[in-house]
Amino acid sequence: MQRFADKVVLVTGAAAGIGKATALRIASEGGLLVCTDVQAEAVETTAKEICEAGGKAVGFVSDVSDPASVAEAMERTLAEYGQLDSLCNIAGILHFDNTLDLELEKWNRILAVNLTGTFLMCQAALPALLESGGSIVNMASTAGLAGHPWTAAYSASKGGVLAFTSTLAVEYGKRGVRANAVCPGSVKTAMHDQFKLPEGGDIELLQRIMPLDTFRGPETAAALVAFLASEDAAHINGEKVRVDGGTLA
Ligand SMILES: NC(=O)c1ccc[n+]([C@@H]2O[C@H](COP(=O)([O-])OP(=O)(O)OC[C@H]3O[C@@H](n4cnc5c(N)ncnc54)[C@H](O)[C@@H]3O)[C@@H](O)[C@H]2O)c1
Repeated sequence: MQRFADKVVLVTGAAAGIGKATALRIASEGGLLVCTDVQAEAVETTAKEICEAGGKAVGFVSDVSDPASVAEAMERTLAEYGQLDSLCNIAGILHFDNTLDLELEKWNRILAVNLTGTFLMCQAALPALLESGGSIVNMASTAGLAGHPWTAAYSASKGGVLAFTSTLAVEYGKRGVRANAVCPGSVKTAMHDQFKLPEGGDIELLQRIMPLDTFRGPETAAALVAFLASEDAAHINGEKVRVDGGTLA
């Protein structure tokens, strides 16, 4: 399957987890990759792995919450390939806190990366996507769909990503750019493995976000991102698709 032959795809958060799995998946289908992340060595490793497997990729540091860094990433993308066909906004951060204890600084940082970062990337990429008739895939979460304890900032940021994606879909759909959102539940990545419940946190309250059968790795979410970014999803615009093992069914 070569759904991304001659297509240029920018993936944020490509150093690890779902972002890395997405970059590898799209490259394996012929995509020309731009991999960005705040982790310099790891994002270069992602690009190197793609090149060693016979694909084409560049990997460099870009912080999605920093407008100057976002602009630079777009400039580098166009300088390298001259076009952009898909933007996959996967970068994100998570922290568990009792809402009563959540510091404003932490709230602002989570919103800055997860929501404002998604907006900044989309705004920077849209001119090129309008030229190519491209697609956007934004990473939300089941935490943006239903109550999820101790994640006030994270859940608000993902709910915001869902609303923002719907806006993009109707605002730019007629001009040929699709925008969809992916809502993972629990996917086995560093983010999932390293989470810490806050004081008094009750693991049973989190059961609703545990997959019904078994935990799966980031390639499960990456497959969905690749589908939505590709022409296979040409008639899908403004959707929110869960990949969670059936938890909220
Ligand atoms: N793992 C899950 O269970 C799960 C569930 C729902 C949603 N998600 C979402 O999926 C996305 C990927 O998560 P993951 O599980 O792969 O986590 P991860 O921690 O393995 O990967 C996240 C990546 O984003 C990068 N990043 C963080 N801040 C950044 C910034 N300012 N600019 C650029 N890159 C930045 C990190 O360096 C890291 O490489 C996130 O948006 C997350 O909210 C994950």
